[in-house]
Amino acid sequence: MARVFSGIQPTGEVHLGNYLGAVRRWVASQHTDEAIHCIVDLHAITIPKDPAELRAKTLEVTQVLVAAGLDPEVCTLFAQSQVAEHAELGWIMECTAAVGELRRMTQFKDKSDTAGFVSAALLTYPALQAADILLYDTEKVPVGDDQRQHIELARDLAVRFNRRFGDTFVIPAHAIPPVAARVMDLQAPERKMSKSLDSPQGTVLVLDDPKVIERKFTRAVTDSEAEVRYDPEAKPGVSNLLSILAAATDGDPVALAERYTRYGPLKADAAEAVIELLRPLQARFAELAADPTQTNGILALGADKARKTAGATMARVRDRLGLPAV
Ligand code: TRP
Repeated sequence: MARVFSGIQPTGEVHLGNYLGAVRRWVASQHTDEAIHCIVDLHAITIPKDPAELRAKTLEVTQVLVAAGLDPEVCTLFAQSQVAEHAELGWIMECTAAVGELRRMTQFKDKSDTAGFVSAALLTYPALQAADILLYDTEKVPVGDDQRQHIELARDLAVRFNRRFGDTFVIPAHAIPPVAARVMDLQAPERKMSKSLDSPQGTVLVLDDPKVIERKFTRAVTDSEAEVRYDPEAKPGVSNLLSILAAATDGDPVALAERYTRYGPLKADAAEAVIELLRPLQARFAELAADPTQTNGILALGADKARKTAGATMARVRDRLGLPAV
């Protein structure tokens, strides 16, 4: 079993791309990986957040993950801020990182260009991310390419610390997640489905009402030909519908294409497959959302589990650094 760490931002909504691309895989690998799923609320507040919204989103993301099938007894699912060791080791990683290497992070450059208020934490964000990973002796971090630089930095900091103070951290590896399904925007099928873009009609949210899902598929952008063929380069819209239908029904997009001659029925079937796929998730979500105390209990359980490993790592780190034990 490999120890795997994922950090999930409690911002925005979970969409079909997240679900088919990542969440479904996490659920499937629960029993083969030792997975830690951390809702990174301390990372979220590097950009000013409304407290009520942050509170609501943290609960919602937890509920969506559990509704999708993550079993809080099997994996470790918790909120970063509830395990104080993250902030603690984050500080020590700030002492390990150089300002120059933090400034070189492209995500910092991008965010500090657009953020109105550039907090100091926006710069030190990757030091906290390194702490997240290193606290749990993580072997694999399956994240997209946009996070590669941060994972490289976490490795560099772990190696640097180990050289200076003796073997303390497991050196994590960036694992490119296998592409389960590349879900593109329904309105702009040449780009990935994303919650941050200005395309609400192109993004299918996992909590969207079935009627809304149907409408989004009906209006999906295709092309002016009238041929159903799987060809992501030449026919991005139609190919995306085929990919989604395939992912939702465990089918093959090339084989599925042969069943259709018109776009209308393809859109209708893709919509129906997605609605059916999400139906159990939505039902379970409704149950969980009706009783937040249950979700708070789930997070408390996860934080207790996380603290065991995180506390042991911090004890080691304190000892190596010459800080008194607590
Ligand atoms: N920075 C990641 C993102 O924006 C979230 C994250 C925080 C993370 N800590 C992590 C991802 C540790 C992987 C491992 O998506």
